Amino acid sequence: MDSLIKMAPTKKVNLGMSYDIYDLRGKISHLPKGLLEHIDRVVDISLELAQRFDIDPEKARVSALLHDVARVTRGPELLKLAKEFGLPVTLLEERLPIFIHGPVGAEMVRRDMGVRDGEILEAIRYHTIGRGGMGPVARVLYLADKLDPAKDARYPFNPEVRGLARNDLATAILAFIDGDIASNLARGRLVHPSTIEFRNQLLTEMKASCP
Ligand SMILES: [Fe+2]
Ligand SMILES: [Fe+2]
Repeated sequence: MDSLIKMAPTKKVNLGMSYDIYDLRGKISHLPKGLLEHIDRVVDISLELAQRFDIDPEKARVSALLHDVARVTRGPELLKLAKEFGLPVTLLEERLPIFIHGPVGAEMVRRDMGVRDGEILEAIRYHTIGRGGMGPVARVLYLADKLDPAKDARYPFNPEVRGLARNDLATAILAFIDGDIASNLARGRLVHPSTIEFRNQLLTEMKASCP
């Protein structure tokens, strides 16, 4: 993973505890090549956004690196692990377990890799669907994951979102969510309530900051 090595300032990353970025990379090396390439791009985009908006780049790097650790875990296994970890699972998530690869992945990262940083775990947990009250590291990962150019066919509004992300993170995320919800509605697809909650929070914040 060239970008990871090129951009890592030091081998040990101190986030209240010591992480070896190369050890962490080794722990996900079993994931499929295509997924590792996605992760690599998300690391790059996360670092770019974090630097632009003055958000901790090391937390952004580690959360991006580990965000899809459970992405290829099959549905029944995700549900089994969620139960084992004591994670809440809604009826919607029981039907579409892909929604819980974030929470299950965060718990795997906490238990198996010793990552205890709350902002990193929050980012991994909610990277797919978002959540009201999400902090800046989680916001960066949420958007970076969607802005992988390989997802542009699925999210045709991404070029516009990228343009907005040059100036303001919340505005860009809101534009992404609006585009995604509109496309889901047009296709008769489900919208996760947590994404609506996230959208409502962003809108409320933006209105509150307008004079
Ligand atoms: Fe994911
Ligand atoms: Fe991802």
